[in-house]
Amino acid sequence: VTTTEARSGDQPGASVLIASNRGPVSFKLAGDGSLTAAKGSGGLVSGLSAAARSGELTDTVWVAAALSEADRQAVAQAPGGRLDHLDGIDVGTGVRMLDIDEHTYDLAYNQVSNRTLWFCNHVMFGMPEDPVFGEQFFYQWEAYRRYNQAFAAALAEEAAPGARVLVQDYHLFLVPGMLREARPDLRIGHFTHTPWAPPETFRWLPDHAAREIVLGMLGSDQAGFHTRAWADEFGRCCTAVLGPGATYDGSAVTWEGRRTRVEVFPLGVDGDDLQLVADQPGAHVWRDRLIKERAGRRMILRVDRSEPSKNIVRGLLAYAELLRHRPEWRDHVVLHAYCNPSRGDLDEYQDYSIAFHEVTEQINAEFGTLDWTPVILKVDDDFPRSLAAMQIADVIVTNPVRDGMNLVAKEAAILSHDGIGLVLSREAGAFDELRHAAYVVNPFDISQTADAIHDALSATPGERRERTDRLVEAATRWPPGLWLTIQLTALS
Ligand code: F6P
Repeated sequence: VTTTEARSGDQPGASVLIASNRGPVSFKLAGDGSLTAAKGSGGLVSGLSAAARSGELTDTVWVAAALSEADRQAVAQAPGGRLDHLDGIDVGTGVRMLDIDEHTYDLAYNQVSNRTLWFCNHVMFGMPEDPVFGEQFFYQWEAYRRYNQAFAAALAEEAAPGARVLVQDYHLFLVPGMLREARPDLRIGHFTHTPWAPPETFRWLPDHAAREIVLGMLGSDQAGFHTRAWADEFGRCCTAVLGPGATYDGSAVTWEGRRTRVEVFPLGVDGDDLQLVADQPGAHVWRDRLIKERAGRRMILRVDRSEPSKNIVRGLLAYAELLRHRPEWRDHVVLHAYCNPSRGDLDEYQDYSIAFHEVTEQINAEFGTLDWTPVILKVDDDFPRSLAAMQIADVIVTNPVRDGMNLVAKEAAILSHDGIGLVLSREAGAFDELRHAAYVVNPFDISQTADAIHDALSATPGERRERTDRLVEAATRWPPGLWLTIQLTALS
C-alpha cells in the first residue's frame, strides 16, 4: 500500500469507512446464470446493517471480501467493485467488494483467521498436539498479509482526507498499521468482536506473527472491545510482545511515541428493530407449529453457529444430567438445539459437528419414548424458526467456553413473550451486562449447568418476567446505531 493510492483531489471519497471480511450483501447464482442479492449473514453484519438502516451510515463505504463465486461475478460486473453502482442493489451504504484470489482467501480466512487466530483468542488450542507452526504457516501468513493489504489499499483509495475508518475483527488485525502508513491523515479505529487471548496463550503464535498483530493494531487511534477483560488482555499482550518500550495504563497503549486508546464498546441490540424483523409471516407460522409440537411441554432453547466455542456438547451433557438426576422433568421438557452450519471447510468444525450429533443420539436413545424426543437438533439456517422459538421458549442456554459477546443471549430476552430464563456462561462477553438477571454457570461444569437449567425451569412466571425485563433493559442499552456513533465520535 502506498500513499499514491490515496484519493486524488477531484474525487472527494467517503468520510466514514467500514471494513469487514463479511459484507452487508452476498450473491447467489441462479440456474440461468443470473445473480440475486441477499443480506449478508452473521452477528457483525446484522449489527452494522441495523446501524445502516438507522441512518448512521450516510456518506459511507463498506469494504468487504467476495466470499463466493457469485460474489466474484458481481464484483466483475460492478464498476470498481462498487456494488452500490450495480443496478437494483440497495444496501443503504456504498459497498466495495474485493475479489481476492481464492487461494489467498482460503489461507487467510480458513487457516490463519479461523484456525489460528480464532482458536488463539478463544483459548481453544489443544496443547499437546496443536498448534504446530511450520513452513505451511509461512505461506498462510503471507496470504493473511496480502489479504490485509488488499483491504488497506481499497480503504486508502476510497477514503476522503481525514476520514474515519472502522476496521472490524481478527481477519483484519494488520490493516490499521498498513493503512496508517499509506494514509497518515485518517483516523482509524479497530474493533475486535472476539475475546482477546491472555499473553500466555497469545505468545504461542510465532513471534513474528504476534509482533505484526500488535503493531498492526497499534496503527489505530482506538482499539475497541466488547468487555474490559478483553481490552486488558490486549493491553497485556502488547507489553508482553513488545517489551519495556511499550506501556499499557488501563486506557491506552503507548509505543514509540504513539498512543492507541483501548476502549470498551459492548454491542447491544435494537429492540424495536428486532421486534419488527420478528413480526414476519415465516416466524408466525413457526410459532404456531412449535407450540403444537411441544404439546404443553416446557421448552429449552439454544441457537448457535455450529462452533466449538459455543460449547454445544457440554450443554447437551448438562441436559442429560438434568434428565438423569431429576426424572420429574422427563417427558415434561424438550430441548431445541438449532445449530447454523459454520466454517465447514475446517476439520475441527466437522469433528465438532459429529460430536454433538452423537451426544444428541445418545440422549434420545437413553431417555426418549415413543411420543417424546428429548432433543430436537436442527443443523441448518432457519432464521424465522429461531425468531419464533425465542418468542416462546422457557429457557435459553448460552454456555460458550469463551465468547466475545454472544448476542443470542440478548436477542432471546428481547423477543420472549412471557419471559425467559437465561442460563449464561460467565466466560461470555455478555456476562458483564447480563449477570445480575441470568442463571450464571461455569461452562466446564455440566452439573452446575444442569442445576441452573433446573432453577430456570422452576422459576415462577413473576420471577421470570422480572428477570427478563432486567435483561432487556441491559441488552438494549447499546443498540448498533449508538454503538457505532459513539465509536465514530470518539474518533473525531
Ligand atoms: O467475531 C465473530 C464473528 O465474526 C461474528 O461477527 C460473526 O457472527 C461470526 O464470527 C461469523 O463468522 P464467519 O464470518 O466466519 O461465518
